[in-house]
Amino acid sequence: MKLVDIHCHLIPRVDDGPETVEEAGKVLAAMYDEGVRVAIATPHYRPHMFEAPAERIEKYYQLMKKAAEAKGIRLYLGCEFYRYAEMAADIEAGKHPLMAGSDYVLIEFAPDDTFLTIRNHIYELVARGYNPIVAHIERYDCCRMPDLVQELRELGAYIQVNAGAVLGGSGRKTKKYIKGLMDEDLVDFIASDAHDGKRRKPNLGKCSAYVERRYGREYVHRVFVKNPLNIIKAGEGYEKGKD
Ligand SMILES: [Fe+2]
Repeated sequence: MKLVDIHCHLIPRVDDGPETVEEAGKVLAAMYDEGVRVAIATPHYRPHMFEAPAERIEKYYQLMKKAAEAKGIRLYLGCEFYRYAEMAADIEAGKHPLMAGSDYVLIEFAPDDTFLTIRNHIYELVARGYNPIVAHIERYDCCRMPDLVQELRELGAYIQVNAGAVLGGSGRKTKKYIKGLMDEDLVDFIASDAHDGKRRKPNLGKCSAYVERRYGREYVHRVFVKNPLNIIKAGEGYEKGKD
């Protein structure tokens, strides 16, 4: 199965991802070894913390895109927003790249944000016509109840979990929580959130094999291939037979 990773930090020198082009190349090679054939690189955008100039992101994105193509990975550019007050307005003003040129927006929240904060940001984006994706939902204390995750989905949000957490890397409690979400079919995407080749490395192949043993091939295809490709298709127009 050709896996699609919609959340990874592959662009060097723009956030807390790879520090050099060489390191980014190693992450790319590891992604390929894990079975990833399409990826959306999602550098952080967070006011006062990660604000790399658009020109630098574009320059290194183009470099990595070429390197990825040479390896056999189609690479797209996205952005992982850390929620902030003017986020929806900035997005509407076209200040930052969205996911692969689509109307999907990957958003990260603070671990102790209230459910109301998360809900309001989701609502604001949906009201403006965007498709918000909640990044690694397992990190937010207020979302520990599946009913609330369901509420976000009903509002129009998509739910992403990190492959490492699915595999147990964030602890047993979190692993169990994610299992509960998957049992109730509340997960839309599983992505690596890879940052480097050591501590937060690409692990989508390992994770998809694990998920397949428990939920079957059809489920794996949906969360690792079909749903992610819907983002790419939304950005490019429908491309038949690419999955
Ligand atoms: Fe991330």
